[in-house]
Amino acid sequence: MVDIEICKLWDICGNSRPPHFECGIRDVDRFIKKDARKHHKRGQTITFCGREKPTGTLLGYYCLSMDAHPTSELPSKIKNGSHVQSEKAFPAVYMPYLGVNRGWQGKGIGEHLLMDAVDRAGLIAENVGYFGMTLRAISPETRKFYCKLGFVPFTDADTFPVLMILPRRSIVETREMAADSVE
Ligand SMILES: CC(C)(COP(=O)(O)OP(=O)(O)OC[C@H]1O[C@@H](n2cnc3c(N)ncnc32)[C@H](O)[C@@H]1OP(=O)(O)O)[C@@H](O)C(=O)NCCC(=O)NCCS
Repeated sequence: MVDIEICKLWDICGNSRPPHFECGIRDVDRFIKKDARKHHKRGQTITFCGREKPTGTLLGYYCLSMDAHPTSELPSKIKNGSHVQSEKAFPAVYMPYLGVNRGWQGKGIGEHLLMDAVDRAGLIAENVGYFGMTLRAISPETRKFYCKLGFVPFTDADTFPVLMILPRRSIVETREMAADSVE
């Protein structure tokens, strides 16, 4: 079991070059290297890093922003009966990127980072109204990874990337369960 601490990329490196990161997916590697600090500065996307305790080695990262998606694209089991069914678009906490450094993949770090992101989405839910947390799975394997943690694909078709959603009520329940298990 890897001991992980989560901190903001900005707090680790500010304006200087981020630590080495390579997960094998070009866009995910490029974002942390080139764009993450710029996005942080203008308040567009906040990047969170998972580091090994106590070495400080960068294990992986994810980032969060807000987005709006067309309600017509929601899976009917989530849309029907919901308060957004008659709206054109719905607001969501959006996770544009998640990646784990090569050599550290398959050790539970991706799951740990995703659960931390869901926990932060839960904190937002206590203060701001929105409909769910969304992200894009880029392959059947990543779709399976997100499904295991409760995300629902917008379509069952095998076309990628595919948008996926974790409804707000599941986010709130996850957060409450985590709080109960600490008490
Ligand atoms: C996808 C990714 C974030 C998963 O993180 P991870 O730390 O390797 O995954 P974990 O160890 O927490 O969980 C692995 C589980 O996810 C599954 N999985 C799905 N996609 C995977 C992938 N590309 N690599 C490894 N495991 C993957 C495994 O089968 C495993 O399931 P199991 O617990 O039932 O055996 C990571 O592999 C990665 O960075 N991949 C490259 C970048 C990427 O694809 N990012 C996601 C963009 S949508």
